[in-house]
Amino acid sequence: MHKRREFQLPALVPVLLVVVTMLSAQANGHNVTKLLASHPSLSTFNHYLSLTHLAELINSRTTITVLALDNSAMSSLLSSNPTISTVRNILSLHVLLDYFGAKKLHQITNGTALAATLFQASGTAPGSSGFVNITDLQGGKVGFGPEENDGKLGIFFVKSVEEVPYNISIIEVSGVIPSDVAAAPTPGPSQVNLTDIMSAHGCKFFADTLLNNSDAMKTYQDNVEGGVTVFCPLDDPFKQFLPKYNNLSAAGKVSFLEFYAVPMYLSMAMLKANNGLMNTLATDGANKYDFTVQNDGEQVTLKTKLNTVRITGTLFDEQPLAIYSTDKVLLPKELFKADAPTPAPAPAPDTAADSPKASKGKSKSKSVPATADSPADSPDGDVADQTADSKNSGSRFGVARYAMVILLSFWVCHLLH
Ligand SMILES: *[C@@H]1O[C@H](CO)[C@@H](O)[C@H](O)[C@H]1NC(C)=O
Ligand SMILES: *[C@@H]1O[C@H](CO)[C@@H](O)[C@H](O)[C@H]1NC(C)=O
Ligand SMILES: *[C@@H]1O[C@H](CO)[C@@H](O)[C@H](O)[C@H]1NC(C)=O
Ligand SMILES: *[C@@H]1O[C@H](CO)[C@@H](O)[C@H](O)[C@H]1NC(C)=O
Ligand SMILES: *[C@@H]1O[C@H](CO)[C@@H](O)[C@H](O)[C@H]1NC(C)=O
Ligand SMILES: *[C@@H]1O[C@H](CO)[C@@H](O)[C@H](O)[C@H]1NC(C)=O
Ligand SMILES: *[C@@H]1O[C@H](CO)[C@@H](O)[C@H](O)[C@H]1NC(C)=O
Repeated sequence: MHKRREFQLPALVPVLLVVVTMLSAQANGHNVTKLLASHPSLSTFNHYLSLTHLAELINSRTTITVLALDNSAMSSLLSSNPTISTVRNILSLHVLLDYFGAKKLHQITNGTALAATLFQASGTAPGSSGFVNITDLQGGKVGFGPEENDGKLGIFFVKSVEEVPYNISIIEVSGVIPSDVAAAPTPGPSQVNLTDIMSAHGCKFFADTLLNNSDAMKTYQDNVEGGVTVFCPLDDPFKQFLPKYNNLSAAGKVSFLEFYAVPMYLSMAMLKANNGLMNTLATDGANKYDFTVQNDGEQVTLKTKLNTVRITGTLFDEQPLAIYSTDKVLLPKELFKADAPTPAPAPAPDTAADSPKASKGKSKSKSVPATADSPADSPDGDVADQTADSKNSGSRFGVARYAMVILLSFWVCHLLH
């Protein structure tokens, strides 16, 4: 047997810091939250860029133009109490995927151009509804409108706010670009089909198992509105695990499936900040069914007495629902034996709780203030990002970056010996 090499951490830290800084700088040449912070008249807009996670998407791209709205334009946008998803759609129509500094705006070739937007890139926008028409008007004015504008361009350039050529230009415009499509009500979280999202992103076996268990499925659905975070095992590990699942008692199966969801919304940033014991939808009195959230550097892990799993991706993140995938099947100690060989613990079906569970979940959830959510810079992101824009996905990029850091640090360790 090999004797394990001890990593010399103190010696490594500066090297790691340099590596991390290099990688971060590549990823984040600009920080839109920071750029907007010195403009109080745009503070609501800035707040909503963070809340909708658009800030992360903006920071992950270059050659981009943000059409900023002042606080009064934002309050008229918010006056109809749109859902956060609708606000996200509307604001993503205000992020142009090209660089327009003040100078370029006034010198558009032939006086008019169509710009693609983040709304169009999100895949949410049908047809050409995600494009913005920019036209130089008489008297040096620049007008903006949706592509279909009936000859009306009612929104105007006000001033340049910040320019970092040719990475990001932030300009203030006179109001919200009208778009029925972007402003259309977006389904709230209770209408989101949880299992469809999981199936489409690598957790199909878990989703199918959940769909086949009406009791567990109902617990999930009942909790979504109040906030739920799901940690679903990826298909390969879950497929291998299925014989053990099928060995559980009926009540054991329900608790097992409910064990993978926490009755509150947790963004990746919150997971990184809040380590500790988590109750799950299966927690019921003496049947603890809990696990520990723990950070290993930037990597978030979940841990029970039996094993530890890593979060590998963000499948969905829109308050109050978050879905993450895990690299292995986390084992609740209530259903599996501790002394079994680690990769394949033997199930103990009869220890399953057979008592019916009346109320669960919500009542035990910690209250998490909505504003504690989502620093704009969280590298882990949002579903539109992953589904429609995977090349620029903050989350995948984040994972890749950390994987690189880990690989590099091992390589450095190797060199040091
Ligand atoms: C522009 O973006 C590139 C690539 O992300 C980055 O290397 C560069 O530093 C950025 N420039 C400025 C002025 O921020
Ligand atoms: C961006 O700026 C905000 C506000 O200054 C700051 O809190 C955040 O950490 C920054 N993000 C990055 C990735 O530097
Ligand atoms: C500008 O107009 C000319 C003449 O109508 C046309 O040939 C050219 O393609 C246009 N350029 C752009 C960038 O639209
Ligand atoms: C933009 O809208 C104006 C006014 O309706 C129209 O004349 C112009 O052709 C449009 N530009 C483009 C590039 O579609
Ligand atoms: C979600 O979609 C699946 C099929 O993809 C369906 O069987 C299930 O009933 C749907 N769930 C809800 C809550 O609509
Ligand atoms: C669905 O559940 C039933 C029992 O409730 C079981 O017999 C069947 O094998 C399950 N199917 C799948 C695909 O898990
Ligand atoms: C299922 O349970 C039985 C009895 O406890 C056990 O012998 C068998 O190995 C288990 N099968 C799996 C796949 O765990």
